[in-house]
Amino acid sequence: MYKVLLTDNIAEEAVAVFSRYTGIEATRVGTLEKNDLVRIICGYDAVIVRSPTRLTRDHIAAGTKLKFIGRAGVGVDNIDVTEATARGIIVMNAPRGNTVSTAEHTVAMILNVARRISQADRSIRRQEWDRKALRGVELYGKTLGVIGLGRVGREVARRMLGFSMNVIAADPAISKETAVGWGVELVGLEELLERSHVITAHVPLDAKTKGMISDREIGLMKDDVLLVNCARGGVFDEVAVKQGLDAGKIAGVALDVYETEPPGANPLFSHERSVFTPHLGAATAEAQVRVAVEIAEKVANALTKGEIRDRVNPPSD
Ligand code: MLT
Repeated sequence: MYKVLLTDNIAEEAVAVFSRYTGIEATRVGTLEKNDLVRIICGYDAVIVRSPTRLTRDHIAAGTKLKFIGRAGVGVDNIDVTEATARGIIVMNAPRGNTVSTAEHTVAMILNVARRISQADRSIRRQEWDRKALRGVELYGKTLGVIGLGRVGREVARRMLGFSMNVIAADPAISKETAVGWGVELVGLEELLERSHVITAHVPLDAKTKGMISDREIGLMKDDVLLVNCARGGVFDEVAVKQGLDAGKIAGVALDVYETEPPGANPLFSHERSVFTPHLGAATAEAQVRVAVEIAEKVANALTKGEIRDRVNPPSD
């Protein structure tokens, strides 16, 4: 009997998937304290996590029976993938189920920061009626720069074309012809920074993207630029962004993700026009069920049939 541990209150539909397979026993729990998970992980052949659980080297070393780690979502920066690879554990993710929710959240954040909706909401609750102070900007005819034209970036581009924005994008993995087919002009990162009125990032956090938007890049941007990040904290250097806001170069930011999560009393929060949400991109009922079912099916097929899909780590030598 294979044993699978589902952590982080993954949608119950995942348990129903495992119940269709003979020979798998699935246990669903909330987010466990680090030491509790280290203590019990040795009893499982596979573990599935969302983003709250950090699967560290200690967990992976303690998981002596572990064959598979499943991520109900896209980002695997909460998993020590290098350690898993070294121990021959296959890490798989569920990169599709979140796409629409994250793209929709990004669109909501762009509109919010452009029209100061959160700021206006706070203001009217204080019984103020200051329409002049809350004047926003139109998106119509403006240029949106999309950094990363993967699944989410593409869906954001498609939606923002509907607002009559000119969409440009930087992504070394996409050809100009493909981008044109999506109504997007492909440019280099510097040109994107120089031309965009609104910039939104849709890249994973890795050695290449960490701090990719810092002082120098902000210096290249238009005055009054709006910056949006619903991808991963750390892609924008928060100290540089704060300086850009303080200097009035950046008009506002809309952030769903942070260098440290939860971010505590982040100094960026002093900027009234800016909008902040607690990593809600994929936090919809639909997306949570989709990613749970997607990863449960992958782990079940991997355990019972040896079928591996959406593996994120290379085979160990
Ligand atoms: C993801 O990587 O799938 C999203 O950011 C959602 C999450 O981490 O919970």
